[in-house]
Amino acid sequence: IGEEARDILGAADPGERLDAVKGRLNAAIADRLTALQRALGKLPHDNRRDAGQAFNHLKTAVIDPALAEFQQRQAAAKGAGERVDLSLPAREAWRGARHPVTQVVDEIVGIFRELGFTVAAGPEAETPWYNFGSLNFPADHPAMELHDTLYLGQDALLRTHTSPVQTRTLQRFEPPVRVLIPGNVYRRDFFDPSHAPAFMQIEGLAVDEGISFVDLKSTLSEFARRFFGSAVTRFRPSFFPFTEPSAEMDVQCLLCGGSGCAGCKGTGWMEILGSGMVHPAVLEAAGVDSERYTGWAFGMGPGRIAMLRFGLPDIRLLYDSDVRFLEQFA
Ligand code: PHE
Repeated sequence: IGEEARDILGAADPGERLDAVKGRLNAAIADRLTALQRALGKLPHDNRRDAGQAFNHLKTAVIDPALAEFQQRQAAAKGAGERVDLSLPAREAWRGARHPVTQVVDEIVGIFRELGFTVAAGPEAETPWYNFGSLNFPADHPAMELHDTLYLGQDALLRTHTSPVQTRTLQRFEPPVRVLIPGNVYRRDFFDPSHAPAFMQIEGLAVDEGISFVDLKSTLSEFARRFFGSAVTRFRPSFFPFTEPSAEMDVQCLLCGGSGCAGCKGTGWMEILGSGMVHPAVLEAAGVDSERYTGWAFGMGPGRIAMLRFGLPDIRLLYDSDVRFLEQFA
């Protein structure tokens, strides 16, 4: 039995599992061991001691050392396979990247913080009064129609712009107020290369005594200088129900420097934001004395600005979460 056990364990492949080898050993010798043990019990008392010692010797001096020797061979083989290769090049680390729109928002927020603005937020589900009524929209304004606005019910909608947070801010804080409001807005649009049903806006609002259009122009021009570099800006008259007068700000095209390209549709200018002096009716709706205070506001789309800055041909790139696109912004 001892010889057979030595042969089995000595010939076993060190790659084989220990319990598999023990199983084979058992299958070969267990029956005979059991028979021996039984026979021991039937021996006369005088012979039993020597026979018992011989039996134990089989286990402790033959089988156990052969098993230990097999395990040693196993450990040696495993160690050889796992040796550390110090010449192996290091694995490349994965780096996360902020989404291009997040990068633009963070940068814009940083610039306006330097200019003395704080950051505020408001709800994305709004009432028609905050979204339209408080902002001086006439009762029959086309923006309120079902085909432009996503209604959640009779008195609830998804805000179509961040301007309702102007009213909410003025209701909560006494002027002077200088606040920046980044957030998601919703419109009843289908996805196409230049439209999305949900996108980000950044609202800005400054209200104090003696604020004039000069503050608006100089602050927004300074922002453009800091964000776009040495940007040349121009203001064009525009219209919003909640500002009077209203103006859109353009900056000279980033892609062609003003000579005219596909990015700016040949005009040399890129439209960046809508702005204007806060309409007195908006101040009054929020409980602010429009005889004492004046203010200005703007709204811009950081997604559009990201498209201009990075030369993106299709707004849907910003929504696909395709890593091949996103990893370029790491
Ligand atoms: N709320 C306007 C829009 O969504 C932008 C705007 C904000 C214009 C503030 C003027 C002042 O188009």
